[in-house]
Amino acid sequence: MSLSYSRIVGCGGYLPAKIVSNDELARTVDTSDEWIFSRTGIKQRHIAADGELTSDLALEASRSALAAAGIPSSAVDLIIVATTTPDVIFPSTACILQAKLGAGTGAAFDVQAVCSGFMYALATADAMMRTGAFRNALVVGAEIYSRILDWKDRSTCVLFGDGAGAMVLTRSEAPGILGSRLHADGRYRDILAVPGSVRGGEVCGSPYLTMDGNAVFKFAVKVLGEVVDETLAAHGFERSQLDWLIPHQANIRIIQATARRLGIPMQKIVVTVDRHANTSAASIPLAYDVAVRDGRIRPGQLVLMEGVGGGFTWGAVLARV
Ligand code: UT7
Repeated sequence: MSLSYSRIVGCGGYLPAKIVSNDELARTVDTSDEWIFSRTGIKQRHIAADGELTSDLALEASRSALAAAGIPSSAVDLIIVATTTPDVIFPSTACILQAKLGAGTGAAFDVQAVCSGFMYALATADAMMRTGAFRNALVVGAEIYSRILDWKDRSTCVLFGDGAGAMVLTRSEAPGILGSRLHADGRYRDILAVPGSVRGGEVCGSPYLTMDGNAVFKFAVKVLGEVVDETLAAHGFERSQLDWLIPHQANIRIIQATARRLGIPMQKIVVTVDRHANTSAASIPLAYDVAVRDGRIRPGQLVLMEGVGGGFTWGAVLARV
């Protein structure tokens, strides 16, 4: 029996307890529920507690995914965490998570591709599983963007939230993950960035997220449409064969514009941006987890996930679940 594919056998999500509504935000920033909801579809976001770390969010999501998969943490031999907001510069959040999970001494590392991070991490895990060198992978997207936002900048702070999502992959005879397409164009690195760095004990440049919202919006709609078609075509599928599209949850208008461009009905698209806001690398696994747990995503269905974000990066993963 050849186990030449990887398959998603469990998922989990975690959102910090504290919820901040648009109205609550409007008490400290010059904004309104009307502006935020009409421009983005966001109603609320979860915000991590002071002592909570990205690895803590990842730990909760991972425990839930492992329980759903029925796989003990000791059987995990590959951990990949997609994050732009790691606990510390190093060691990687994946190594910290491995220790917190008690997950033995398999491979563990972070992937940094901002809001496309989970697509990069899932594609990497799938490729590594297909070599036959790993049996069970834990792939996590975990972020605490509330710590890299300038809470006085209304054009960015209203858009993001904190959270983590996880998937467990196991080797399988049948697919499973069918394939992926990843892209980047570093010439657009300035339209979405945290440009600061640490040098000689000081922060040089801004440690806060900066964004050209209009440029990001246009770029996102263009490349998301392209990568959906590219990924489907590479595996011989038509758009109409998709059961679910799980897009990165940045803005409902980006999701609707992509859906219109592709002719995919909104009923086939999982949306969580209203409740989660943009949780960057966590948004896709969180949305996937919501739709599995509420019974929308069912075994045997064809699911396409797609992400876009800083770098600029974008990508998609196609899976039979
Ligand atoms: O993972 C990728 C992450 N990023 C994104 O997905 C962002 C993509 N871009 C967007 O979602 C949209 O461009 C935004 C939601 C960020 C902005 O929407 P927009 O319709 O493009 O608004 P705008 O930037 O053209 O701003 C319109 C006005 C401006 O005022 P003036 O100059 O017209 O007087 C802004 O100052 O809205 C003002 N504004 C706000 N007003 C109230 C900006 N932020 C706010 C706010 N509340 N929070």
